[in-house]
Amino acid sequence: MSQHTNANTFDANESNLNSATWQVTEPAFDPLRQHHSETILTLGNGYLSTRGTFEERYPNDRQATLVHGMWDDVPIAFTELANTPDWTALEIWVDGHRFDMQEGQITNYARCLDLRTGRLQRRLRWTPAEDIAVELSFERFASLDDEHLLAVSVRVTPLSKPAEIKVRAMLDSRVENDGLLHWQQVSQHSDAGQADLVVRTRHTGKTLAMSTRLGVSGGEAHLAASDCPGCPGIVATAQAEAGQPLVIVKSVAIYTSRDSSDPLAAAQAKVQTAATAGYAALREANKSAWADFWEASDVIIEGDDEAQLAVRHALFQVRIAAPTHDERASIPAKTLSGFGYRGHVFWDNEIFVLPFFTFTQPNLARNMLMYRYHTLPGARRKAAANSFSGAQYAWESAETGDEVTPTWGLDFDDPTKLVRIWTGDIQIHISADIAYAMHQYWRVTGDDDFWQDVGAPVVLETAVFWGDRAEAEGDRFAIRDIIGPDEYHDHVDNNAYTNHMVRWHLKTAQDALEWLWEHDPGGAGTLVEKLDLTPERLTHWRKVIDGLILAHDPETGLIEQFEGFFDLEDVDWPAYEGRTKSMQELLDIEESNHYKVLKQADVIALLCLFDDAFDQKTWQANWDYYVPITDHAYGSSLGPAMHAWAACRMGQPDLAYEHFMRAARADLSDVRGNAWDGIHAASAGGLWEAVVFGFAGLRLTENGPTFKPQLPTHWRRVVFNIIYRGERRRIELSR
Ligand code: BGC
Repeated sequence: MSQHTNANTFDANESNLNSATWQVTEPAFDPLRQHHSETILTLGNGYLSTRGTFEERYPNDRQATLVHGMWDDVPIAFTELANTPDWTALEIWVDGHRFDMQEGQITNYARCLDLRTGRLQRRLRWTPAEDIAVELSFERFASLDDEHLLAVSVRVTPLSKPAEIKVRAMLDSRVENDGLLHWQQVSQHSDAGQADLVVRTRHTGKTLAMSTRLGVSGGEAHLAASDCPGCPGIVATAQAEAGQPLVIVKSVAIYTSRDSSDPLAAAQAKVQTAATAGYAALREANKSAWADFWEASDVIIEGDDEAQLAVRHALFQVRIAAPTHDERASIPAKTLSGFGYRGHVFWDNEIFVLPFFTFTQPNLARNMLMYRYHTLPGARRKAAANSFSGAQYAWESAETGDEVTPTWGLDFDDPTKLVRIWTGDIQIHISADIAYAMHQYWRVTGDDDFWQDVGAPVVLETAVFWGDRAEAEGDRFAIRDIIGPDEYHDHVDNNAYTNHMVRWHLKTAQDALEWLWEHDPGGAGTLVEKLDLTPERLTHWRKVIDGLILAHDPETGLIEQFEGFFDLEDVDWPAYEGRTKSMQELLDIEESNHYKVLKQADVIALLCLFDDAFDQKTWQANWDYYVPITDHAYGSSLGPAMHAWAACRMGQPDLAYEHFMRAARADLSDVRGNAWDGIHAASAGGLWEAVVFGFAGLRLTENGPTFKPQLPTHWRRVVFNIIYRGERRRIELSR
């Protein structure tokens, strides 16, 4: 039996086109670097992502396919995305030798993630025994055209003499999240034509079904069922002639109980359609969906291949993590590319990642903002649990919007000790960050329906929380005992970023209510009643707006990061030269509270978000003060891209470039040494911000976007699109 006879595993012309700026390559198989490669070679389609582990699997790999919304309970961290059964699994035998890159000899190895077409490819020559040699080419993709469809193909070519090729294609549920098991087996089935697997999460009862078919071309193949427990599959056996490629295509369809009442039937029907269409058609449809994405969202940087590739890789990685048809999911801090932060969603998305989508893929931005709308009930519960009215968003959010930040974590130096994690209790700026992102989306898109039904109601309900949370002290208001963006200091009072955001938030809430009265008086009335927006409450908001403490010295322009920051101890920076660890690790978590050292942009973040609202003196004074005492290399990965943006604002594009490249290398070059745990989503989104808000100098004014470009010396040309109020504009900047 043979399907997909037109399978074409590699297309040399395509692969070589502009490879330096479109392809992330791995020139050699290095078992010690695999976890890093797995992360950066992650592919996906907005429904799921799959790390770049190998089809034949290796004992130490960190295999993962994470599907949006498939949460299951875990101890301490509450919930995590359950690692889905491995759809890529293939075992290959050549004349009885099981393919394994650690056995025999490997030559001509190359692996590449082609960003332009969303395909991961590998080719190599394998010599398992003296008289046997084969060429193997693999290719896989998760279709961006149809998010339920996945495909992997392998082409085996015996080099000197005919060989018996056996390929076992499996749906492998023997998967884990760093040792934790999430699945119960519901059913499995295999025959020569199709294999199916149905599993269910142990605690949350979510069902996932996969169905697979195998097609073979280039030789007469015998297909049979392969039915090991938890791992249904199909085995193909064929005699391949020397020099004649045998091509095996595994197509897989996946559905869950989140998107179908009968996920198995849906998966079976889909894989049948895929088989009828054939591999080449699926591949073409995927490629053309990617072409559409790049046409709208690519950023072209001429004169710097490394920066160009890094930006494309970053955009690719955030795109594959952005839910395409799902309003109940958003991009996690480590995208869907690793177990870091367990799939939880942070402010990273609203402040660092969403602008890219808002300006180039507004429908996707809307999905993720809707996620915050749908999780309002959790935010209401959090506010109520803290004895406040309104809604307070979780610092780490998952399915319901309830707080899922673990309360305890492991000590850096001594993993037998636990340290208290306070962010879930007191890092509260997230509610204003979400309001900021919704408002930005509205300003850019002009989507009044969104503002009326979603944005304004969310801004108002979270404003109710702020009104309660601000503490009256005479005629001033304080926000005490919090953590600002700089997490090296906890339990601080009046963090400038937070207070300023809150003031902006309350003002925006007032404007939103006025706007609603004008555009939707019925809706405004209902909301006023539901949220108890009495005249007294609105007067109280005005008082908070006027009285909220903001330590901004009009003489010097300096803004104190929080009360007492200027009195902290100075760090003896020369003593730490050459360090390879974060200042928090070196000083100790508790101790770093006492020093003038920042994990990431805090006042600088505030300046970036409000930009021209601060005068040049303020920019200069705070730039001069805070940048030298920030832990750029080993603090938060959120820092460098934002400092690149800020440095442009300070008219220093070449210095901006240094910060920019630190962000660009966070994943591709693994400069922080932790890329194995997943892509740094905020750093990736921040690269787009640095190019567009920083180097191109995009500002949103009353009259629409304006630009104030300043490129690094060696950049010749930058081109990108933005969509403003439904109209796409192409921006071209050259020296
Ligand atoms: C950063 C936070 C960020 C979180 C998730 C922390 O290290 O300090 O700002 O939200 O990581 O990326």
